[in-house]
Amino acid sequence: MKSEEIRKKFLDFFKEKGHKIIPSSPLIPADSTVLFTIAGMQQFNSVLAGEEDPLKKFGSRTLASCQKCFRTIDIGEVGDDTHHTFFEMLGNWSIGKGYFKEKAIEYALEFFGDILKLEKDRIWVTIFKGEKGISKDEDSIQIWQENGIPKERIKEFGMEDNFWGPVTETGPCGPCSEIYFDRGEDFGCGDKDCGPNCPNCQRFVELWNLVFMEYNKERDGRYVKLPKKNVDTGIGFERLVTILQNKESTYETDLFLPLVQKVEDLSAKVYKEDKKSFRIVVDHIRGAVFLISDGVLPDNLGRGYVLRRILRRSIKYAKVLELKDYWYVPLIKETIKIYEKIYPEVRRKETDIINVVQKEEEKFKKTLDKGLVQFEKLLKTKIKEQKSKIIGGKEVFDLYQSYGFPMELTKELAEEKGFQVDAKGFQRKF
Ligand code: SER
Repeated sequence: MKSEEIRKKFLDFFKEKGHKIIPSSPLIPADSTVLFTIAGMQQFNSVLAGEEDPLKKFGSRTLASCQKCFRTIDIGEVGDDTHHTFFEMLGNWSIGKGYFKEKAIEYALEFFGDILKLEKDRIWVTIFKGEKGISKDEDSIQIWQENGIPKERIKEFGMEDNFWGPVTETGPCGPCSEIYFDRGEDFGCGDKDCGPNCPNCQRFVELWNLVFMEYNKERDGRYVKLPKKNVDTGIGFERLVTILQNKESTYETDLFLPLVQKVEDLSAKVYKEDKKSFRIVVDHIRGAVFLISDGVLPDNLGRGYVLRRILRRSIKYAKVLELKDYWYVPLIKETIKIYEKIYPEVRRKETDIINVVQKEEEKFKKTLDKGLVQFEKLLKTKIKEQKSKIIGGKEVFDLYQSYGFPMELTKELAEEKGFQVDAKGFQRKF
């Protein structure tokens, strides 16, 4: 099934169930204390907290969306099978007097089973086992069982895995129940206790998080009951597409494959030879397209720094792949083609996006080669003089100041050679 069709099926399903479809909010959230939108619920925060009326603000108590999200926490991990900067989240909400656990669970199983035809006997779920004065979610255990999920496929976890939110220090949050898909023994570790959240393997993929929001976390850390209960759910879209398209990695789905093929056209290498570099280039350019189309510009601070960091990392790996000049233009155009129907702003901002990336590339290309020479020199001197394998804060700062190397890039390059960087020392130089 094509990714476009999956998105549409989700939104159509919830529309039919009486949900109002709300367009994605921008990656820059209205709450400016947060760097980026990282979850579908963020644009609904005030109504979920009971501070505003969902009927007045959104015209309905039951809502669904496909939301653009951007997470910075995993930037360094991008290059493996699963991590991304930009991703999409499908979600449905019931705010205040709508439905709660029963309907949320029924809808989820109906959508996965009847609409997407995921085999029910490969579905496992997790529930909140109770912790920190918040009781165990017995209701969900019963509802899952009533809906045909046997007890042995219902696993219990604590706060860390099965309690969601808030996004910031305070706000609406609650126990959650997650749906996992069993990819089968071939993906497993063989351990008899293998299941969702297995520390040894990726056999069980988390697909859908159903949050039963009943609490507000206060400044003093207390969890206080919300005046009304809510449902807040989220599906990691890329993961769902990977399962439905039966691929081992998200980079092989139709969301990424056209981009990977474009890089192959521009490089003498093929994807299989250097997956990491290919993935970094395509993920980061895709992320940059969305950040720039929502108004972020490269800078030395905040959101702009994140954009600069991913652009410069992709430029470094484009060099590893020896991509032809203006390599980013076909990648930007292809990203726009993949997403313009659902997020038309990317098409509207096409020229701006190309210009911003071009300027950043011209700037960084001038210093990248010299910086790499300087970096190698530094390592050689340290090895020769048998100095510690730590690149000092001042040295990292010099690479940043004189050659435009983001600290994280120096760190990554250093780690590849068995060195560390003094990140704290670097911060003190500012
Ligand atoms: N807020 C939850 C999440 O982001 C469910 O949407 O996972």
